[in-house]
Amino acid sequence: MLDQATNRLLTEVGANTRMGQLLRRYWMPIAAVSEFDSVAIKPVRLMGEDLTLYKDLSGAFGLVDRHCPHRRADLSYGFVEQCGLRCSYHGWLFNEAGRCTEQPWEDIASPQARFKDKIHVKAYPVEARAGLLWAYLGPQPAPLVPDWEPFSWTNGFVQIVFAHVPCNWLQCQENSIDPLHFEWMHMNWSMRLADKPGPYSPRHLKLEFEEFDYGYVYRRLREGMKESDSMWTTGRVCLWPNALFPGDHFEWRVPVDDENTLSVTWSFTRVPREQEPYVQEQIPAWHGPVKDEAGRWISSHVMNQDFVAWIGQGTVADRSLEHLGTGDKGVILLRQRFLDDLAAIEKGGDPKGIIRDPAANVSVRLPVAERGFLTESLSRAELLKHPVLGKQYEGEYPFQAGQPDEVRKAYAQAMGI
Ligand code: FES
Ligand SMILES: [Fe+2]
Repeated sequence: MLDQATNRLLTEVGANTRMGQLLRRYWMPIAAVSEFDSVAIKPVRLMGEDLTLYKDLSGAFGLVDRHCPHRRADLSYGFVEQCGLRCSYHGWLFNEAGRCTEQPWEDIASPQARFKDKIHVKAYPVEARAGLLWAYLGPQPAPLVPDWEPFSWTNGFVQIVFAHVPCNWLQCQENSIDPLHFEWMHMNWSMRLADKPGPYSPRHLKLEFEEFDYGYVYRRLREGMKESDSMWTTGRVCLWPNALFPGDHFEWRVPVDDENTLSVTWSFTRVPREQEPYVQEQIPAWHGPVKDEAGRWISSHVMNQDFVAWIGQGTVADRSLEHLGTGDKGVILLRQRFLDDLAAIEKGGDPKGIIRDPAANVSVRLPVAERGFLTESLSRAELLKHPVLGKQYEGEYPFQAGQPDEVRKAYAQAMGI
């Protein structure tokens, strides 16, 4: 358990909070590049800040304040120009560095005053990588956007999936280092949801947690497994500071504010050998619903089940009421590491997992239990045999409900289904 003060310390994400300042040291994925094929401007809220993300006519991305510094109009209802975003109220124009480059009336009425030189709108750097748009709200110099190894895997179909999860980010991230829930939430609950009485899934017998440069690895041994199984020898990754990396996909829990989280999934599916060579022209992105028509949380897909757990813990989980056991070792390690990182920042250091060296940021290798399955050329028959990931070769996206038809079709075409 945590006392109320520590619970607040670890969960608050505003610019003036300590954890908010820690999280601002990392690039956060906030949108997909392909979303800007059909729109030029998207309002976003990130760590309690209302912002406007745009792509101007030259193709440059910018992330600026939601409100115009003139008289506070909403810049997400502005329009883009060759260079920058123009407020639709009186036409002030801003570039991606936050400079005001035009004030149409002032430029005519009193050009010598150069009033625009005194005007800045809050602006943050944006970078595109792996089909995602990443934002950095922290102090300069900014670290690098991580170039995780799967971003350069070939012969795969990638899709980006969002969901709006109405609870605090930390309880979502605690799930990234909670191997036990897999047995109950995803295996046994799914079976009971399908109205099957049993038998229940193999039980966890051993758990190990190990820290590495970019997070923690958790390893599990379940009934019927050998110690040579990759779930025990390699395990899964709780990726720092706010993601899960189970090998074939990333799940970031991006804080929208203290009470809301944007779930961002980047999912890779290797095509069967029969479909090689496959080059994906564009990475599609879609938003999945979290509620059904009856107003209940959707529970049919893996991540929707996780959402049920996270949301169920309360808008901000009250950790003073919990009772942690030995199975929660990972959660305890995660909290302690964040507390240590808060202390590191106070002393002027970097928190865990920051990458600043360009030479080290080339296809950064992470533990991948199913590396062969994801990176080697395998026939459809071989892929279909995989007990969990094999399902994907029947066309089903297993992680989240609501995949749009056009993405399903593009996926089926890539896989040769
Ligand atoms: S409020 Fe934006 S230009 Fe006037
Ligand atoms: Fe889960």
